[in-house]
Order: sequence, then structure tokens, then C-alpha cells
Amino acid sequence: MIFIDACFGKQTPYAPVWMMRQAGRYLSEYKEVRAKAGDFLSLCKNPAFACEVTLQPVDILDVDAAILFSDILVVPLEMGMDLRFEAGIGPIFDNPLKNKDDVDRLDVINAADKLDYVYEAIKMIREKLSKEKALIGFCGSPWTLATYMIEGQGSKSYAKCKKMLYQNPSLLHKILRNVTEVLKLYLEKQIEAGVNAVQIFDSWASALEQSAFFEFSWEYMKEISSYIKKKYPHIPVILFPKGISGYLDRVDGYFDVFGVDWSTPIEFAKEKLGDKYVLQGNMEPTRLYNKKAIEDGVGHINSVMRGKRHIFNLGHGILPDVPVENAKYFIKLVQSKKL
Ligand code: CP3
Repeated sequence: MIFIDACFGKQTPYAPVWMMRQAGRYLSEYKEVRAKAGDFLSLCKNPAFACEVTLQPVDILDVDAAILFSDILVVPLEMGMDLRFEAGIGPIFDNPLKNKDDVDRLDVINAADKLDYVYEAIKMIREKLSKEKALIGFCGSPWTLATYMIEGQGSKSYAKCKKMLYQNPSLLHKILRNVTEVLKLYLEKQIEAGVNAVQIFDSWASALEQSAFFEFSWEYMKEISSYIKKKYPHIPVILFPKGISGYLDRVDGYFDVFGVDWSTPIEFAKEKLGDKYVLQGNMEPTRLYNKKAIEDGVGHINSVMRGKRHIFNLGHGILPDVPVENAKYFIKLVQSKKL
């Protein structure tokens, strides 16, 4: 698999390419299956539907890797939190974590087992996906999951999490510890079911100042990646902390690929981390609105990375109103290595 070779720094004919959030609302085929499923969570919980939408971007765009269709928030859901998705708002937990009793009620023991619908989907996808294409499993980072579990929904200030961080850090550590234990098992079970690589999304890393980031997020991500790498050295681990370009000097740990977000200049990431890790990323997702902008974005990244120790991706998820034709143009351009 070209994607797996690239994750381990082997020379490949071109930098393999996939897109974060590549299965989603910009595809009419996705919207059809989602309508059949009824709502988003039912889609995640139905392995046949999840399999179908995972394969859509592979069939339609010919990306080099599929990413399992699910959501990072199914983990807190199966730890016992009430999750719903509200149109126009996004995910909502009606019972956010406020105190030690709430935290003690979380199910740490059985949560990974309760996610069996995810493992079922993985088995179905791996059977249907071409042998040349990798299947990426994933989870959210403990910190990013904790932001939703404590705030109850997406947040601009993260005031509730940060109040806990500075007023009761041991309670926050307890939440992060419990989530970390579930995630280790969850990724392990994804690997046993058939994923070929795993990515940890730390979408809200940038909410933390440097010292807090390394204490409350990076340490836990590193622990999960070390756990996976020791047991499954042949499975690449990709870490994606969004918005921490100012902290790259302190990035370390046992993992294979560093996901570069779009706000970090790729030449800067290469200088700081390119010798230690394969880099993934990082075209600005809204460049997909215009073909010339795509050509410039791809051209610039290729002029820096030159197809070495690099996996092409967007620097965050694709947006729902991007024309499919432009997404196809982006994938083809990368694969043709036409700069
Ligand atoms: O990348 C893929 O194609 C795989 C599927 C995937 C989804 N969510 C599907 C989804 C993945 C990897 C995620 C990860 C995820 N989920 C993250 C981390 C990545 C990132 O973008 O930073 C986060 C923070 C979430 C939480 C989440 N899920 C939010 C905030 C929302 C609402 C915002 C939105 O885009 O609608 C979701 C819903 C969600 N997850 C959708 C999809 C396709 C849209 C649901 C729909 O209306 O059909």
C-alpha cells in the first residue's frame, strides 16, 4: 500500500493523498445514505451504511486511503454520556461533566466493547476495499474529547474546561486518564478488526497555552501512540494537533506521522520536524473553492516537500459546500505529480 509505505518514510511514486472529512455532506451520495439512515448517529451505528459512506470517496475521488466513517464523539457516548447532533449547532451532551460524581459515573470498563458497531463496519470495509488502499482508523485526543464532555458542546472560550484546568486540575487529569484508557483499547480493537493505520485528532489543541498543552494533551496522545506502537509496530500512528505551530520545538514521542494544520507554513514544519517524522498535510481547505488556488496550493507544498516523507492532505476538514469536481481535481493533481 503506497499510503503505508509513505507513513514509514519509504519513497513512493507520488505523495499519497486523502482528505480529512472526505466522507461527508459535499457528496450527494453521502446525503442520500444519511437520509436513509435517518440521522447522523444512526448512520454511525449501522455498519452497512458506515461501510458504504466510507467507500464513497475512494470510488468517486480515487483517494489513496479510506478513513473509517464514524465520529470521535461515539467514545464519550458509549462511556455513558447523552449525545445528540442538532442542526446548526453540532454535537450536544445534555449531561456535561461538572464534578467528581459525574466523572465517577463514566463507564471506563465496557465502553470499548460497546463500540462493536465500529469494529463490524471495519471488517465490512476491509473486505470490500481494494488491497492497494489503506483503511485509517481514528479517535479524538483525550483533551479534544474532554472539551465536549465538559462544555457540553463546541465552545469558543473553553471557559468551563479551563476553569477546571486551573481550579481543579486533578479532576481534569482524572477525566483525561479515563478517556485515555478507553482509547487505547478502542484503537487496539480497531486494529484487530482490520484498520491499517490510526490517526488521533486533537482538533482543539490550540485552546491550550504551551505548558498546558504538553501537560493536558500531548502527554496523553503520546501515551496512546506508544501503547499502540509497542504492540503493533507495523501500524503507522498519525498525530494531528491543530494550531500549535508555536510549540513544534517541544514535539517528541514514538509515532510515525505528524499532521500539519493549514495555519503552519509547511516549510516551517519541515524544518522543525521533517527529519524525525513523516509530515501529512496541509493545503488550506478553502483553496478547494477554486482550481487556480488548488494549483498554487499543491505547487507550493510540492516545491517544499518534493514528494519525500510526505502524505498529501488538507490542513483540516473539507467543507460541505466544496464542489466535488474541485475535490477530484485536487486528488488527480497530486497523484499526477504535475506541478
Ligand atoms: O473524515 C471522515 O470522512 C471520517 C468521518 C469523521 C467525521 N467526524 C464524520 C462527521 C471524522 C474523522 C470526524 C472527526 C471529528 N468529529 C472531529 C475531529 C476532526 C475535525 O474536523 O477537527 C470532531 C471535532 C468531531 C465532532 C463533530 N462531529 C462536530 C463538531 C460535528 C458537527 C460539525 C459538522 O461538520 O457538521 C460532527 C458531525 C459530523 N461528523 C459530520 C460528519 C460527516 C456531519 C454530520 C452530518 O450532518 O451528516
